[in-house]
Amino acid sequence: MIKYDSNAGTFFLAGDTYSYSFRLYEGKCESVHFGAASDGVPFSLRKYTYRNFSPMIEDKRGSRSFGDMPLEYSEYGRGDYRTPAVQIEGDGFASTDYRFSGCEILSSHPQAGGLPVFRGGETLRVDFYDAVSDSSLKLYYTVYPSGLVRRAEISAGGKPFTVRRLASFCLDLNGCYEMTALVGGHGNERRRRTWKVDTGKSVLESNRGTSSHQCNPFTALAEKDAGEEHGRVYGASLVYSGSFRIEAEVDQLHNTRLIAGYNPDDFSYPLAKGETLSSPEALIVFSDSGYGGMSRAFADTIRDYLIPEKYVYASRPIVINNWESTYFNFDEEILCGMLDKLKGLGVDMFVLDDGWFGHRDDDHSSLGDWFIYSKKLRGGLAGIIKKARECGMRFGLWFEPEMVNSDSRLYREHPDWCIHTEGRTPLTGRYQLVLDFSRPEVVDNIFSQMEKILSSYDISYIKWDMNRHLTDMPDFVTQHKFMLGVYDLARRIVARFPDLFMEGCSGGGGRYDLGMMAFFPQIWCSDNTDAQARCLIQYGSSFPYPLSVSSNHVSICPNHYSGRTVPFATRGEVAMLGAFGYELNPYQLSAEEHASIQSQTEQYRRMEHLVLKGDLYRLSNPEENGIFCMELAAKDKSEARITFVQFAMQPDPTPFRIYPRGLDADAVYTVCGDVTDNEQFTGRTLMNAGMDFPEVWRDNEAHIITINKATHGTKKRV
Ligand code: DGJ
Repeated sequence: MIKYDSNAGTFFLAGDTYSYSFRLYEGKCESVHFGAASDGVPFSLRKYTYRNFSPMIEDKRGSRSFGDMPLEYSEYGRGDYRTPAVQIEGDGFASTDYRFSGCEILSSHPQAGGLPVFRGGETLRVDFYDAVSDSSLKLYYTVYPSGLVRRAEISAGGKPFTVRRLASFCLDLNGCYEMTALVGGHGNERRRRTWKVDTGKSVLESNRGTSSHQCNPFTALAEKDAGEEHGRVYGASLVYSGSFRIEAEVDQLHNTRLIAGYNPDDFSYPLAKGETLSSPEALIVFSDSGYGGMSRAFADTIRDYLIPEKYVYASRPIVINNWESTYFNFDEEILCGMLDKLKGLGVDMFVLDDGWFGHRDDDHSSLGDWFIYSKKLRGGLAGIIKKARECGMRFGLWFEPEMVNSDSRLYREHPDWCIHTEGRTPLTGRYQLVLDFSRPEVVDNIFSQMEKILSSYDISYIKWDMNRHLTDMPDFVTQHKFMLGVYDLARRIVARFPDLFMEGCSGGGGRYDLGMMAFFPQIWCSDNTDAQARCLIQYGSSFPYPLSVSSNHVSICPNHYSGRTVPFATRGEVAMLGAFGYELNPYQLSAEEHASIQSQTEQYRRMEHLVLKGDLYRLSNPEENGIFCMELAAKDKSEARITFVQFAMQPDPTPFRIYPRGLDADAVYTVCGDVTDNEQFTGRTLMNAGMDFPEVWRDNEAHIITINKATHGTKKRV
């Protein structure tokens, strides 16, 4: 719901779980409330303090300063010394003073100049104008039941200028908070870290040209002592896959400003007369039921309004990918042998990974040459696709569209198509260069090559990889335009092949963000397939992102990344908490492991609806105690499934007690698993009295508990 009261100058926005209000003050939008539902704009309940040395709006007693006001969008150079959301520089001006010029409630979700956007919702646009720079600023607010999407747009009127900063939003919150970030590196993505921000600034950012393995474009600000299911928590996640910056700043009044948008280190964007630039959208959510409530608000909004509608709730293909089993060393015979061994086990998509194109025998050559490597695949892809079909599987193919090797036909024909600075040799990473996707002719070429392959064969799935970060920029514009080129290619592929299922990837989870999720219903979560490491990575990833996005495979042990051996059953259970698949050579499995593939795929199909549509409850913090415990509960409270993995057995074990969530207190449930078999309890008993997991006798042993609502007529037990 959106209400604008033009007499009072107040704006009131409300979803099901939150309300958001601001008011006009001296032509600015002053923030009043973002949090749990209220019935109006409680402006008269606000008290403001003035601190000296911030210039006043009017220099007289009782006047206020922009430097102390909670603002909807902060500017540079007019008395607000905190972080600006917008900063521009033109001939003779370096400050702005945007004043309200109107607003409109829009009938459809506005586009954002080629950036990915959410769909649906009710959108408010608030307009501002600055006379000196002759520029206009628009703030967009789209209301969804459990989240709010914000973005900003700036346009040049009669004077050109350079945009140095453009944030998606500014959120001025009362008080100080604990900040959560998802940080790490390749094979160790999105590890949860939380610290108190009570002084200065905390900055989360990527300047790598991608959202990166190192720091995810997400943050949470939580009140002190908030936990998984209690306390007030704000979450924010950018719909962008390039360099970004998120800043939390505590001011002199001990209030916190949160800003997120383009990374100013990588960005300086000239706008000519009449041109417009949009920030990315950002999803912000509020929870008064802790981090768990925040994650469920994120998941519901992302699933219902961002991830491609057609696939978000559709049953996912169970994949066998050949990467970890063959790497580059395969031919049709080897692949067909693997498929034979998997026939009838419930695997339904064979994905041929890196090495099928150009003359690629290792990672030194052929990126950019998207035609079949006939030495490995003599009859093209037809033979392997036919074999996959005979074995009950469809076929998927790997691409890395944004890259080129200097040893390639494409590079020899167009050596200037890689991102470079004239006069300097561009750096390589994994022996590859980055194609300049800011140039439409480069995107056109890659689109034509991909289209040719995809239309010549029966291909149902692609895995879109990206294996190095950006360097050697010729200016501060190309990096963002590169990202727009990537989105353009993804959009064109989807439009041309609407039935193609696309999995995202960037050396594992290097681009695990909402920008990618607008096109890719699932993303390869990490190159690290070790189930213990994955517990930590998947735990962190679950804070802002739905489990269904996380593509997880059972791989061989000792694990190629970590060297660790984890029970096959645990590998299966951890991988099932997402889009499930395999990445192994079936000939290397014991007979028992091989046989259990079928029971795993059947199990996955039985629980898949919980992964796709369920509510997530994190019952433990594995970063603190080495115990991973996640519950998936059906939204109608009919069932729940709990996965428990303890990393190491303990010499003096204490049973680990959990309190399931998301059940109907009055209903009777049958509980199965290691804690009890077929006993019945009320939801109230289960949620309030909890249950103990038995002592663990082996490192990384997985335990599962299923909780199902008993059918009518069952005698109530406890
Ligand atoms: C990195 C990906 O994350 C892997 O799964 C695999 O596709 C390789 N690239 C192939 O080069």
